[in-house]
Amino acid sequence: MQDKRLAWRIERAGSLERLRLVEEPLPPPAAGEAQVAVRAVGLNFADALALLGLYSATPPGPFVPGLEAAGVVRAIGAAVPGRTPRVAVGDRVMVLTRFGGYATAFNVDVRYLEPLPAGWSFESGAAFPVQALTAWYGLVRLGGVGAGSVVLVQSAAGGVGLNALALLARLGARAVAVVGNPAKAEFLRAHAALDPARIVVRGRADYDARLDAAVAGLGASGFDVVFDAVLGRWFRPAFERLAPEGRYVLYGAADFMPKGRRRGWARLAGQWLRRPRLDPLAMIASNRGLLGFNLIWLFEQFDRLPGAYAALAALALPPPYVGQRYAFADARGALEELKGGRTIGKSVLTIEAS
Ligand SMILES: NC(=O)c1ccc[n+]([C@@H]2O[C@H](COP(=O)([O-])OP(=O)(O)OC[C@H]3O[C@@H](n4cnc5c(N)ncnc54)[C@H](OP(=O)(O)O)[C@@H]3O)[C@@H](O)[C@H]2O)c1
Repeated sequence: MQDKRLAWRIERAGSLERLRLVEEPLPPPAAGEAQVAVRAVGLNFADALALLGLYSATPPGPFVPGLEAAGVVRAIGAAVPGRTPRVAVGDRVMVLTRFGGYATAFNVDVRYLEPLPAGWSFESGAAFPVQALTAWYGLVRLGGVGAGSVVLVQSAAGGVGLNALALLARLGARAVAVVGNPAKAEFLRAHAALDPARIVVRGRADYDARLDAAVAGLGASGFDVVFDAVLGRWFRPAFERLAPEGRYVLYGAADFMPKGRRRGWARLAGQWLRRPRLDPLAMIASNRGLLGFNLIWLFEQFDRLPGAYAALAALALPPPYVGQRYAFADARGALEELKGGRTIGKSVLTIEAS
């Protein structure tokens, strides 16, 4: 007999309003898969982009959104060479899901299961894989950040942003945190114990001057790394403040997020036409570069994921900051808040044990 589950499903990307909570059968795990009873779902900004059809990896037909969750292993399918599970039935795990995370249970390739660190809640586990791996890959692998590096972090009070600040603190790097509103700046003062001179609010007339003051205050000539997933008109001032050898790590474009529930093609087309452009020859002359990164690519590098998790474990980061908790049934409202840019830290959906 097949089990049943609840899942948030969309028939066709295009609007958050199309997301529906459905009850559906869940088959036993196939060979090389495990079945996870989900206790917390991690929300990502990319989920809203995927539901709107603005994410490069959005599936063409119906899909269940969700890139990560945490829960308990309920069953493990037949063994497959090269896919030895590192967890057993009953273990608490955090899981990457290439879509499919917004569900009370799912089947997933065993290579995506990672044991939940001792003492962590399911919410912390659901908050970790996507945003910590993104911060680690972008800052360490691509950015080459080390002790003393001066790093601009855009959206520093967001999910990836707080992971980035925690990582930079562990590495002994020096962060300049940029946020979209004063409430987030206030939060960073209290939560990340950052010097107020190193917290900059975007959108103010003194934005460029505040960036210069932050760099000067650190005794630096510019940023060694800019870690940015906003783009838009904020790209140019940051790029121009890269020090020689500086690397701009671009991993998203939140500025493209439509204001309403639908895509709004006219506004998007205008933004597309106005998107920043760079001259590669100027990069040679100024010794600066731009690197792009998409975690969906890393999802497919099964040989690299254990090494990435091990590197994160070696840093012994604290559990991620979960700023918003919602019942599983409130997924649409939770996504609206995340999409609106009002949230701080991670948003998770919680599911009671059945
Ligand atoms: N490339 C990858 O593999 C990868 C992986 C994970 C995440 N990402 C990207 O990283 C970014 C952060 O992801 P997250 O899940 O941690 O989200 P988040 O940072 O918690 O939330 C997104 C933030 O984007 C900022 N933002 C800037 N312009 C916006 C706009 N027009 N509308 C709404 N928000 C806007 C807001 O913060 P401020 O106003 O404070 O800036 C907002 O809080 C997203 O752009 C996401 O797509 C990329």
